Amino acid sequence: MKYAWSKSKQKKGTETKAVLDPAKGLKYLFINELRDILWSEKALIKAFPKIITNAQSPEFINAVSDHLETTIAQHARIEGLFASLGVRGAAKKCDTIDWLIREIEQVIEHTPEGIVRDAGLISIAQKIAHYEIASYGILYAFAELLGETETAALLEKTLKEEKEADEVLTSIAKSDISLELSYTYMDERNYKRRSA
Ligand SMILES: [Fe+2]
Repeated sequence: MKYAWSKSKQKKGTETKAVLDPAKGLKYLFINELRDILWSEKALIKAFPKIITNAQSPEFINAVSDHLETTIAQHARIEGLFASLGVRGAAKKCDTIDWLIREIEQVIEHTPEGIVRDAGLISIAQKIAHYEIASYGILYAFAELLGETETAALLEKTLKEEKEADEVLTSIAKSDISLELSYTYMDERNYKRRSA
């Protein structure tokens, strides 16, 4: 991330001014974070169908399908925020989300279809949700500090959506997937004991 006071982004002689102007620095950070999440939501619109087509649990598939629809709306909402802020909505690659999307591909490649793959995919889906909760939490706080009330309200709405998605994933991981995994391993242990 290039900060407001990053020399590579500054014209010669303006570094001190940027550091001494907190509002300007904060706005710069805010726009940078917004560009990061714009890229992330777009990338996730392409990545979630990979989970949907490779998972097995109907509850998990439904949860990700629902969240895909929410993500499409969130992406459009952020584009709208750029327009209302009068700033160019240029997406900036987010290395964290890019890495997590590659993890989805790794799990699919290295696990057979079934409950273990689902457990791997749900853990990545939760890491993605947690990253987005952190990002929208920061964006909401920055928008409030900058006095961008309408923008803050829309970011708070998005933050709530991410928290709800995370709660759904947690309940699926705790109930359906953990239960089935424990049955699978109990069966395996019993089979080994019987055949020993
Ligand atoms: Fe999102």
